[in-house]
Amino acid sequence: MSPSASVPVLTIDGPSGSGKGTISRRVAEKLGWRLLDSGALYRAVGYAAGAEGLDLSDVDAMTRCAQTTKIRFQAAPDGSDTRVLVNGHDATEELRTETAGAAASAIASIPSVRQALVDMQLAFRKAPGLVADGRDMGTVIFPDAAYKVFLTASAVERAKRRYKQLKEKGLSVTLATLQREIEARDARDASRTVAPLKPAADAVFIDTTGMGIEDVVAKVLAVVQP
Ligand code: DC
Repeated sequence: MSPSASVPVLTIDGPSGSGKGTISRRVAEKLGWRLLDSGALYRAVGYAAGAEGLDLSDVDAMTRCAQTTKIRFQAAPDGSDTRVLVNGHDATEELRTETAGAAASAIASIPSVRQALVDMQLAFRKAPGLVADGRDMGTVIFPDAAYKVFLTASAVERAKRRYKQLKEKGLSVTLATLQREIEARDARDASRTVAPLKPAADAVFIDTTGMGIEDVVAKVLAVVQP
């Protein structure tokens, strides 16, 4: 058994806009555990591929890109959001866009791309514990996690949350477009053959439609500290 196997893991999986990012960050802070934002890894690879002008449907090129892209998470000195460095460039803002999300979702359906990112994800498992945010955390990457949650919310509510976030950032989007994009991404993430988006059999299912952030955080914390 590797030494990290004894480190407790809480997996938080779910579709885009389910609040996973915010909830995972808050829960990790409360527990004093590390955080893995696995979506950022797929976004970073998609971004690096775009920056090099590669074709996202070229399996060999995407696999090489996933194997060679250097991704680093760096705590911001002022305590604000963690910065994500992709091949040395701070790409934090670019990675948040819908374009980056769609590129991530496209390359995430390539099995060899997923394989290339496994070790990087496992390396996050360090004491005193890990909160792992993604789509396949409880099913594929950390199937032995002691605590598993699956967060969801209606597509309409998720589109509204995303709309609010993007508007606050000054980006121009429409609610209808966002909802269409979210539904398309859900369908692709749930229907791919490798590691599709689905709750682990032993995950606690939480529908966050109509719930406030603090209520969801409390529900998730109760899974770890009943
Ligand atoms: O969580 P996110 O929106 O940042 O993820 C972006 C895309 O990356 C998502 O549409 C599917 C993919 N992804 C994945 O396939 N597996 C993960 N563990 C995390 C993200």
